[in-house]
Amino acid sequence: MNTPAMDLNQAIRARHAVRRHTDQPIDAATAQALREAIDQANAAGGLALQLVLDEPKAFAGLRAMGQFRGVRNYLAMVGPAGEAGAEACGRHGERVVLRAVQLGLGTCWVGLTYNKRAMPILIGPGQVLHAAVALGHAEGPAHSHKVKPIEALTSATPPFPDWFRRGLEAAQLGPSAMNQQRFRFDLDPETNSVSGRVGGPYGHIDLGIAKCHFEIGAGTEGWRWGP
Ligand SMILES: Cc1cc2nc3c(=O)[nH]c(=O)nc-3n(C[C@H](O)[C@H](O)[C@H](O)COP(=O)(O)O)c2cc1C
Repeated sequence: MNTPAMDLNQAIRARHAVRRHTDQPIDAATAQALREAIDQANAAGGLALQLVLDEPKAFAGLRAMGQFRGVRNYLAMVGPAGEAGAEACGRHGERVVLRAVQLGLGTCWVGLTYNKRAMPILIGPGQVLHAAVALGHAEGPAHSHKVKPIEALTSATPPFPDWFRRGLEAAQLGPSAMNQQRFRFDLDPETNSVSGRVGGPYGHIDLGIAKCHFEIGAGTEGWRWGP
């Protein structure tokens, strides 16, 4: 596979929820690149994320009709049941989402509005389907949405260290259920350690996604995750 045209920070800025797809299929090279990203995410997070191609039923039901159109490809976010499994799906699954953005696809996390029983997926003992992500070629231009200021996403007081500000700016742009952005990052300035908190429906998936973005934005030097 060639080097991606955009790096991960650019993919974070290019990503918007895309709910309507054209009928252009996902080609074999793109599917292969997605599978490689899925394998990495599954290994890193102990997950069972699965790619489903050319399956129109899961998003065709009444519940999905209002928002989604033409969705025939998706990721099934399968992982261990419970909050830690949900957070891992968000954290490692969002890496696959950003890879899809690099590959030119539109993406949208979906909590509820799909038909789980139509999905040809494997859910092992102790695992659940935490969410799905619609994947495909966008029908039209994507729209950006309102985001909270970074100061509202942390209990820390500005001025922030550079790495912390970059992490918050990347987390600020992540998808969250109903665009609620309930996650918060606390900073211990003595140890440069960062902890995440969250509440609300789908909170742990949102927190995992926000952590994925934070890690990409902050980079690897000068900080670590705290308790
Ligand atoms: C865990 C999760 C569940 C979501 N569930 C739905 C959903 O059921 N239906 C939907 O249309 N969008 C859903 N979304 C997409 C959000 O509404 C969207 O990400 C948010 O409004 C921010 O917009 P953006 O993705 O363009 O930044 C979900 C997002 C997340 C992270």
